[in-house]
Amino acid sequence: MNLAPLITVLGIHHVGIVVSDLAAATERYQSMGFRLLEVLDLPEQGVRIASFAIGHNYVELLTPLDSESGVARFLAARGDGVHHVAYAVPDLSAALQFLAAAGFELIDREPRVGLHGWRVAFIHPRSCHGVLTELVEVAPAPE
Ligand code: CO
Repeated sequence: MNLAPLITVLGIHHVGIVVSDLAAATERYQSMGFRLLEVLDLPEQGVRIASFAIGHNYVELLTPLDSESGVARFLAARGDGVHHVAYAVPDLSAALQFLAAAGFELIDREPRVGLHGWRVAFIHPRSCHGVLTELVEVAPAPE
């Protein structure tokens, strides 16, 4: 058995939820007390995102901008629901290297720039028991 050191995961960073009606969903989450940070488009991923702060974590409501995006196909196939879970890591490049060597199916072999300029990468749901998994690089918490 390979006993290579595990990657460091600092915690859950955000949960991504696909919704068909972003305005209604935003209102609903605000009514639960979630603080809306911003709404913005990521055209390269074909999505509009409403981003909420909850404590030190986030919730992202995602809705497709076109019918071709992965989020559009997800919505058509499964309806509203949890789309991905994102974990915070201190060193994304090291994490990707480790996961690739460990046989994980990486959607992004190199970090890409996501929401808010974060360095992110996605792992295929096939490698994470059916959950699309995102890693987000964050500065480690001070000691
Ligand atoms: Co995300």
